[in-house]
Amino acid sequence: MPWGGFSYSALKPGFERDLKSQKRKEAVFLVAEADGDVIGSCIIKRSPRKHRSHMGMLGIEIAYGHQGMGVGQLLMEESIGAAKRAWKGLEIVHLGVNGSNRQAIRAYEKFGFKRVAEVPNVIKWKGKYYPDISMHLRVG
Ligand SMILES: CC(C)(COP(=O)(O)OP(=O)(O)OC[C@H]1O[C@@H](n2cnc3c(N)ncnc32)[C@H](O)[C@@H]1OP(=O)(O)O)[C@@H](O)C(=O)NCCC(=O)NCCS
Repeated sequence: MPWGGFSYSALKPGFERDLKSQKRKEAVFLVAEADGDVIGSCIIKRSPRKHRSHMGMLGIEIAYGHQGMGVGQLLMEESIGAAKRAWKGLEIVHLGVNGSNRQAIRAYEKFGFKRVAEVPNVIKWKGKYYPDISMHLRVG
């Protein structure tokens, strides 16, 4: 299944790494499945440093053909719920997104994330620069 330009087999090593982080209790990692295929993944990582442990860092990806159908909203809800149950003191979920990725920004805003910062030129793709947008969701 094509995954945002990557094949599932190309993503598998990353999934295995994310599962190991979960086993070490450094992250919460959930996948969405349809008809036996993994069609989405979401990870929330927490820093081991005490002064950063009120914050979780979220990364999510939904496979082509399954985007814009509410899977992302559901996966974020379940993942944040799982992170809150797993970690005491989780207050803020943070993510970073390419400023040109309007579809993703809209999906995060729909879920309740707010833009908190824009850092210019963080992404360089085919000679063009794009800003990174930081977004926060208060969860506690
Ligand atoms: C960004 C992403 C995680 C959102 O998950 P999703 O399941 O597609 O989004 P949802 O269906 O839960 O959210 C719906 C909202 O997102 C927007 N949206 C996201 N993808 C869309 C699509 N393919 N078509 C239409 N709307 C889309 C819409 O605004 C929609 O709300 P609306 O219908 O009320 O306008 C997913 O599209 C994705 O993985 N995209 C490719 C990779 C990527 O950009 N990852 C994020 C990197 S930070």
